[in-house]
Amino acid sequence: MLKRAILALFFATCQAAFAQVSITIDAGKPGAVINPNVYGQFAEHLGTGIYEGMWVGPKSKIPNTKGWRNDVVKALKELHVPLVRWPGGCFADEYHWRDGIGPRDRRPVKVNTNWGGVEESNAVGTHEFFDLAEMLGAQVYVNGNLGSGSVQEMSEWVEYMTSSSKSTLAELRRKNGRDKPWKVDYFAVGNEAWGCGGNMTPEHYANLYRNVTAFLKAPKDAKPKFIASGGHDNDTRWSAVLSKEIKPGSMDGISFHYYTIPTGKWEGKGAATGFPVSQWFTTIQNTLKMDDLIRQNTAALDQNDPAKKIGLFVDEWGTWYDVEPGTNTGFLYQQNSLRDAVVAALNFNIFHAHADRVRMTNIAQMVNVLQAMILTDRDRMLLTPTYHAFRMYVPFQGAATLPVTLKNNGSYSVGEASVPQVSASAARGKDGKVYVALVNTDPAREADVTLAVTGSAAAKLAGQVLTAAAMDAHNTFAAPEAIKPAAFGAQAAGGRLTVKLPAKSVVVGAVE
Ligand code: AHR
Repeated sequence: MLKRAILALFFATCQAAFAQVSITIDAGKPGAVINPNVYGQFAEHLGTGIYEGMWVGPKSKIPNTKGWRNDVVKALKELHVPLVRWPGGCFADEYHWRDGIGPRDRRPVKVNTNWGGVEESNAVGTHEFFDLAEMLGAQVYVNGNLGSGSVQEMSEWVEYMTSSSKSTLAELRRKNGRDKPWKVDYFAVGNEAWGCGGNMTPEHYANLYRNVTAFLKAPKDAKPKFIASGGHDNDTRWSAVLSKEIKPGSMDGISFHYYTIPTGKWEGKGAATGFPVSQWFTTIQNTLKMDDLIRQNTAALDQNDPAKKIGLFVDEWGTWYDVEPGTNTGFLYQQNSLRDAVVAALNFNIFHAHADRVRMTNIAQMVNVLQAMILTDRDRMLLTPTYHAFRMYVPFQGAATLPVTLKNNGSYSVGEASVPQVSASAARGKDGKVYVALVNTDPAREADVTLAVTGSAAAKLAGQVLTAAAMDAHNTFAAPEAIKPAAFGAQAAGGRLTVKLPAKSVVVGAVE
């Protein structure tokens, strides 16, 4: 009996050690197109996310264009940022747009009560935000103030931005330096109405949404798409109620928020670096919940919107750790390591799998806040591993998803719990090439993968890998390139394209 058990264990161990994951991409069955806005960003008036991190003002010694840092803008352009959400977040429901127009030295100074109680100079307002979006070539997502604003205030903001008439508000915009109206791609009615946006029920919010949007008027050809503020985590009531109570034609999407917290607890979330392997595991485990949460919300939306007219916009997602020691707890400043890049890649693969419903997401946040692309220290900046993951996935923007089958996938286990070792996603890029993204979640074991593409001989993989020796490998101002992508490729041999995925790695490449 004992001998048999030992033998079984031996064979199981061998299987785990030598298992070859076989991945087949069906290139003949393109599915939904990955909306480029799935790679959207979020910039809130929070900590040094905008002030210092991106905006230094036109008089700063730090090289800038119209007040925006040249180094940061240049790096962000490499990501082909498709869309930026602004001004919040919780900040949006306390923001009054008239505070942010006109001569900057005469704008009122307010207190940012949500984030650190610091002074808000209003130096960055509507005009400055559109300057940034224009420099990035990005679409804009303006988040309106439902919580402490009024219908009139929101309706006048939309008029100020979009009117080509000679109305007093359009003339005021011209006086402030902008002749032509801007294109507002998306306008959201409030944020987190269930929490910082006003502690509402979905039923109450649905009424307010209908009321507000009746007065958000813009010229026919310049009408923004409207976003209703939805739910979070495993609360699907918002998707269910809003899709029932609001006509699909009067909203383009319902938002959804989910943050990855290593411990799963808001008190003691876990550190961004120097964490134990148990927290590597729980971070992966918790981030993978995104798939199920999207499924649950999609099921709720499907009840009222089977034609999928309404998008599920995951307009806040990412890791949320304890702040770096010694920093303002209200500034949400955290380091960013290889673990964050793996989290980003796993989420991208999940979003691709739901491309028919998930048509926008916004990582929280762009610079210096939560899972940021860039960290700054006065005139210095560094690119985070998350930045590199976004850069590697650029070919997926606007690509057509392709079905992927994984056979013999291993597990990465800690104790009784386990997650799949390999995550994969594939798409046909706008350049016609087949791209594949692979993630190995296991911090200790490499994965042997064979890649096949139906209908063609997969001869090689050419792309990049992001990995490092340490789970928390990260860039610092002293060593800003400690972790960055390296070239990665494989050639078929004997008719088989085999790839060795390093432990804790992200690989993106073209299969040819
Ligand atoms: O991204 C930080 C905050 O998280 C946002 O302001 C808010 O919407 C969410 O709770």
